[in-house]
Amino acid sequence: MNVLLLGSGGREHALAWKLKQSKKLNNLYIAPGNAGTALTGTNLPIAATDFPALKRFALDNRIDLIVVGPEDPLVQGIYDFFRDDAEVAHIAVIGPSKAGAQLEGSKEFAKEFMKRHQIPTARYRSVTAATLEEGFRFLESLQAPYVLKADGLAAGKGVLILPSIEEAKQKLREMLDGMFGASSATVVIEEFLSGIECSVFVLTDGNSYKILPVAKDYKRIGEGDTGLNTGGMGAVSPVPFADETFMKKVEERIIVPTVEGLKKEHIEYKGFIFLGLINVKGEPMVIEYNVRMGDPETEVVMPRIQSDLLDLFEAVAGGSLHKKTLETDPRTAVTVMLVSGGYPEEYEKGKPVLGLDDVERSIVFHAGTAQKDGQVVTSGGRVIALTSYGETKAEALAISFKNANAIRYDKKYFRRDIGFDL
Ligand code: AMP
Ligand code: GLY
Repeated sequence: MNVLLLGSGGREHALAWKLKQSKKLNNLYIAPGNAGTALTGTNLPIAATDFPALKRFALDNRIDLIVVGPEDPLVQGIYDFFRDDAEVAHIAVIGPSKAGAQLEGSKEFAKEFMKRHQIPTARYRSVTAATLEEGFRFLESLQAPYVLKADGLAAGKGVLILPSIEEAKQKLREMLDGMFGASSATVVIEEFLSGIECSVFVLTDGNSYKILPVAKDYKRIGEGDTGLNTGGMGAVSPVPFADETFMKKVEERIIVPTVEGLKKEHIEYKGFIFLGLINVKGEPMVIEYNVRMGDPETEVVMPRIQSDLLDLFEAVAGGSLHKKTLETDPRTAVTVMLVSGGYPEEYEKGKPVLGLDDVERSIVFHAGTAQKDGQVVTSGGRVIALTSYGETKAEALAISFKNANAIRYDKKYFRRDIGFDL
């Protein structure tokens, strides 16, 4: 099969790395990709949201299947674009329809969906400028801290957690006033839930589903989960507290009602469902849905899947996922993200990355890199993800940390405490 993979981060390099191992793969193209994906396939200078250009390329190069890494193309309706165009309707898109992508594209939609299907999640109220007073009253009925979420996509920055009611009211006003542009014209106010989080990934063909290895990511820039939020500083899989008892609850109370709910509402969904969960005293609750794989979770989840990913995708597209089994690697996988100094605030790009050839026993996934004059240079805040296996988490981490020291570029930074809370 000829596959076109969309995106340019560590997640996409991990997907490309896994697809590359498939016996069914003929050509792999990545749009736009990075210096790492260039080692596993052919990068294309096409944006992941340029649907007409993707269509032209797919036709000219006999693409059979499109794998969508990031959420933007999904929320903008890439699935429907290909399905509804007779010239390209034969090309499978792995991802939800535009209606399904609303699970990530609108927090209000996601909360209403969960309410309709009795899926456990935090109590909430959705407000607009016209209902600001109602929002204030709902805030007053809650206890600190206060959670405010921009309804629409906000590049991972749309959630505010405020310690006092005064600040919560102030920020609610600012959000509705356009703090995140149109994305925060509606704000979801939520009850704060206390517990430890994990990421559960489900691959579905709309009827049947497979639960992929569970992971935990580390979002804060500083050790001990302090400082600003980032796109993710590392991840671990498996997650010890996501044991059989917990996962049985997740499956019965969340996964089954989600897949069944989509089906009942006639929402086409052939792709990944990412459940951001919180463990509240042993009870799983949904913090958020995403409609794609997580980053950096993909960098530990893909290495723990032994089955042929392209074979699974083919079954997703064809509606025969129930005939497949998912084989997983029992070892622990960890990933440690090397980032640019200053990230997630201002940072410099274009720094030569040295020592990549010195890496031993880790998988190198490029996150934000580019090729320049035959050299790999930094091109993003998150630069390289180093994934290692171990019989234990400690063993895997030791390998990643050793290689994190071997890779060199100006102002490199990484967290040395990934997995500390597990
Ligand atoms: P989200 O963008 O929805 O993933 O939210 C970002 C982060 O905010 C989550 O990973 C949680 O750590 C935190 N968060 C979101 N909603 C809640 C909630 N209701 N209670 C506690 N923490 C939350
Ligand atoms: N690691 C969280 C995300 O990809 O949204």
